Amino acid sequence: MNRNRTIRLVLILSVVFISLTVPASDSFSQRQPNVDARINALLARMTLAEKLGQLQQLDGHADGRFKDDHPEMVRKGQLGSTLNVRGVRNTNELQRIAVEQTRLKIPMIFGFDVIHGYRTIFPIPLGEAATWDPAVVERSAAIAAKEARAAGVHWTFAPMVDIARDARWGRIAEGSGEDPFLGSVMARARVLGFQGSDYSAPDKVVACAKHWVGYGAAEGGRDYNTTDISERTLREVYLPPFKAAVDAGVGTFMSAFNDLNGLPTSANPFTLTEVLRKEWRFDGLVVSDYESVRELINHGLAANEKDAAAAGLNSGVDMEMVSRLYNKHGAELLRERRLSLASIDEAVRRGLRIKFRLGLFETPYADEALESRSIYTPAHLAAARETAARSLVLLKNEGGLLPLNKSLKAIAVIGPLADSQKDVIGSWTGDGKPEDAITLLAGIKTKVSAQTIIKYAKGCEVNDDSTAGFDEAVRIARDSDAVIVAVGESADMSGEAAVRSSLDLPGRQLDLVKAIRATGKPVVVVLMNGRPLSINWVAESVPSILETWFAGTQAGSAIADVLFGDVNPGGKLPVTFPRSVGQVPLYYNHKNTGRPPDANNKYTSKYLDVPWTPLFPFGYGLSYTQFKITNLRLSAPRIRTDGSLTVSAEVENVGQRAGDEVVQLYIRDVAASVTRPVKELKGFQRVTLQPGEKRLVEFKLTSSHLGFYNHVMKFVVEPGEFRIMVGPNSRDLIETKLEVAGR
Ligand code: NOJ
Repeated sequence: MNRNRTIRLVLILSVVFISLTVPASDSFSQRQPNVDARINALLARMTLAEKLGQLQQLDGHADGRFKDDHPEMVRKGQLGSTLNVRGVRNTNELQRIAVEQTRLKIPMIFGFDVIHGYRTIFPIPLGEAATWDPAVVERSAAIAAKEARAAGVHWTFAPMVDIARDARWGRIAEGSGEDPFLGSVMARARVLGFQGSDYSAPDKVVACAKHWVGYGAAEGGRDYNTTDISERTLREVYLPPFKAAVDAGVGTFMSAFNDLNGLPTSANPFTLTEVLRKEWRFDGLVVSDYESVRELINHGLAANEKDAAAAGLNSGVDMEMVSRLYNKHGAELLRERRLSLASIDEAVRRGLRIKFRLGLFETPYADEALESRSIYTPAHLAAARETAARSLVLLKNEGGLLPLNKSLKAIAVIGPLADSQKDVIGSWTGDGKPEDAITLLAGIKTKVSAQTIIKYAKGCEVNDDSTAGFDEAVRIARDSDAVIVAVGESADMSGEAAVRSSLDLPGRQLDLVKAIRATGKPVVVVLMNGRPLSINWVAESVPSILETWFAGTQAGSAIADVLFGDVNPGGKLPVTFPRSVGQVPLYYNHKNTGRPPDANNKYTSKYLDVPWTPLFPFGYGLSYTQFKITNLRLSAPRIRTDGSLTVSAEVENVGQRAGDEVVQLYIRDVAASVTRPVKELKGFQRVTLQPGEKRLVEFKLTSSHLGFYNHVMKFVVEPGEFRIMVGPNSRDLIETKLEVAGR
């Protein structure tokens, strides 16, 4: 086979995604009949003011009550939706006005940020992504949906599917990490969990893919900051999880805050109309982020509120969250022909479509009895505990220190995060209550034998300068057989507007760990954090490290399950851990450069003061047992550009305990008409194996996996050599070659 990729020989295959030809909603069964006809009938009767009212969403109080002016606005048809109003009493009261006291009886839609649970709080999304288990992620979204809908909420502003390659950005905690493939799998799982196949069901909510788009690429990691992303990177890195959400039937999108290539994402016709509506045929609703339409003025895209309203609506933002510019200026803009009635009608149509699909015209009210029965049930707590345990990543376990024996005589539990209920549930905690949370200390206490003495000392705060608590911490460490130290970030150090310029352990926590380590006792560090941390000294000097993210309501029980061996950890990092913030952005699927790093050659792509490699690579995580991955095989060594094949490998548990391995498949297109990443994840499977058990793991590779966007942004598969790699993380891979031949 001639592998020469001259233009003459390149055969371009346009991979036509099924979803480009079939509107997503057609494959998404909806129980509501004749929606379009019913929308038309309503639109024909609506006044302009009523139409603009449907495009308005306003914020309630943080505790779930609506604001004083809301009832009157609803009565006048000036308000179509709220956010944060929740609890059946509150939602039904406002809904009653909409449905019984307005001319057209159009129900309200109640939105809320149900990010990782409503009342039963699951691990933060980054932690859930670390499960590499879409089935448990789908289940936790389904539980969140059930609780939220029972509390009168119809619409969650989730999943956040922003790819994040910069750990300084606090919202990395809310997404699935750095990889578009893993991110897409998780996006799909969450949409299916929230919505099912029919979100009019009494235990489902409509989901919202956010933040459209590129928000995670904020310059310097600074929240809300400008982004400049090439169309290739957009299409290959940032768009795929959104496309996965559309393919899973997601009902709504949220436009973002960031400026994208000179057009803020809440006024970007390319992303909002060209890609989303025309290419992807998305027929749902786009809501702005909080006041992001008004913020067009700050961006310098609009001179005043009226211009901002025109830019937002004309670009494809249907509903305004909190700012009121469409309502204020819509009529005048229409008179001036800067807005068309057709575009207003289209925005209203999309909102009504979601209300019909939610079944709100038939069932506008929530049921108070159901609310108390459905929330925070034992089954939900059990699922939260299982999910939390599956999200934990064992980063180091020298000498098999973990799991600890439940009958140790004395254990010291130390650290500012060891007994903090508010931190362990993370940020964006819906209606979750810190007082529900089981801390690490509480989890350990119920896990160990009746004879085991547990002593606790905080040692220091997460983020201040005091070392006053060190002496006591060291004293209890000295009296123990093992020490568990919980350090990391407080919950409010990640999430929205929670950006850090350092990835080190904040405050005096590292000094605390050093002081404890100096006692010579066996030390386990339990990390709690919403982003990768550069924990070099800890990684070097402490025998065992367990990454636990913010693991939710059941965190302490789940962490104790793992520390004491009732659960064997099997999570893997969904994001690269850098050695230093100076390496950021650091991600596994980078390009090779013309001078790939070489320790023996100065003039290669690296740093003077830190290795170029990560501290822990993407996909990394250990187990209490060991696995061997061998016998990588291809069903065909050579396929055509439109062909497919099966990649298989054997994974064997060669250790002494049952455990989970996540077998990961990566590819590399060795030479192409545009440069390609050194590795790209294209498949993974989390398998559970008994000691001595061996399993064949198979992956299907098709042209949609092998292709990329060429220099004219056409999705193509090019002939030539591909490296096919399989392993337990993105670094330690076995590989073989695949030949792709022209047609
Ligand atoms: C702003 C955040 O960016 C967004 O994610 C959230 O859904 C809204 N606020 C509503 O709370």
